Amino acid sequence: MILSSSTHPDWFAAASADLHALLSDHLHCERKAAENALSLVRRYPHRPGTVDVLGRLAHEETSHVVQVSALLGRRGWVPRADTPNHYARALLAEVRGHEPERLLDCLLAAAFIEARSHERLILLARGFAASPDTVELGGFYRSLAAAEERHADAFLDLAAPLVPADEGADRLAFFSVREAEILAALPHASRIH
Ligand SMILES: [Fe+2]
Ligand SMILES: [Fe+2]
Repeated sequence: MILSSSTHPDWFAAASADLHALLSDHLHCERKAAENALSLVRRYPHRPGTVDVLGRLAHEETSHVVQVSALLGRRGWVPRADTPNHYARALLAEVRGHEPERLLDCLLAAAFIEARSHERLILLARGFAASPDTVELGGFYRSLAAAEERHADAFLDLAAPLVPADEGADRLAFFSVREAEILAALPHASRIH
């Protein structure tokens, strides 16, 4: 577990207050996860594992887009437009401009986004499962959560060989503190982050 903080207990009530908004944001999170993975394939096709690991990851994220879309459709909703993700933007603002630090930071930022998504999808799974009206949603979030945990590990595995182990550990610790700070500064809303 790389996260250094836990989501506030009040978060679920705010996140689930507007289901249409939450599911729309979730759909765009999955889309951006797929796009981010493919953009790393575009920039780093020569790096060992990049094309295979991130190509598969993008494929899985795209399947999540389709699943969230189906869930919206069953409720008679169309996805709303994307809104800026201040959480991801603040994390990506920490990415340094030179290699191999740039790739290292991109992979670590992605690992933290996946790890936080995993934590929050578990909270959604538990919260929705507790109410008879939203049991289906609970099962859905439970089924997606395990994938996001695997994705966090995949990004960490790709990051590990890029720099010496102590340097990588220092940067992981930096992102762990920074991620918690960024999250703590954001209001609770009907969105994943
Ligand atoms: Fe996903
Ligand atoms: Fe993911």
